Amino acid sequence: MNEQHKYRATDKMSDLICDNYSLLMMMSRFGLSLGFGDKTVREVCEAQGVDCRTFLAVANFIGEEQCSYDETAGEEVSVTALMNYLKQAHTYFLDFNLPAIRRKLLEALDCSESEGVVFLILKFYDEYVKEVRRHMEYENQAVFTYVEGLLQGRPDDGYDIATFASKHNQIEAKLKELKNILIKYYPEKENNHLLNAVLFDIFNCEQDLASHCAVEDNLFVPAVARIERGLKS
Ligand SMILES: [Fe+2]
Ligand SMILES: [Fe+2]
Repeated sequence: MNEQHKYRATDKMSDLICDNYSLLMMMSRFGLSLGFGDKTVREVCEAQGVDCRTFLAVANFIGEEQCSYDETAGEEVSVTALMNYLKQAHTYFLDFNLPAIRRKLLEALDCSESEGVVFLILKFYDEYVKEVRRHMEYENQAVFTYVEGLLQGRPDDGYDIATFASKHNQIEAKLKELKNILIKYYPEKENNHLLNAVLFDIFNCEQDLASHCAVEDNLFVPAVARIERGLKS
């Protein structure tokens, strides 16, 4: 790992989390559990069977200014570890976070009074979740299956990671729209605590999805492309 990066293998794992709490979610996607006392990043990863260099590459990518990340980013990552991480993130979004936001939306919106707006908001949200599901299932099924083949030395003549990268679109834009509908048009109520809480969740989810896609574009795609080049030569 490049010395100039923010987080190192010898840092205490607890310091990383206190420095940037969004790394908490990243940890659980790597399958790391809490309760590691004063252990370093390397010690925690080794004890829990996680590839430390891949963990650090993602932590640094998320923790640093992503646009300043250099071309050689993720040169040391394990594609298997990164793919498992991405799969766990998909499960988190589809099976936990997006359904939780929907439940909170239902709770926050006044279904008795402004039926029309509430119906439209929920419909918009459900359509959005369907779109995210399509995006992530395509990655789980088509892309990861292709990469697993590559890892076993079986390239596929009809597909490459550049094809995926060229069609890989941002999925958080519509969430921004939903947020704007709620902020600009939802009729004002006496107590907005629930609505504010769900808006916070949507802001977080938007950021989390953007960073997920950036990890795919900037760490995963280049790492897979290196394997493709290796197999060709
Ligand atoms: Fe993804
Ligand atoms: Fe994606």
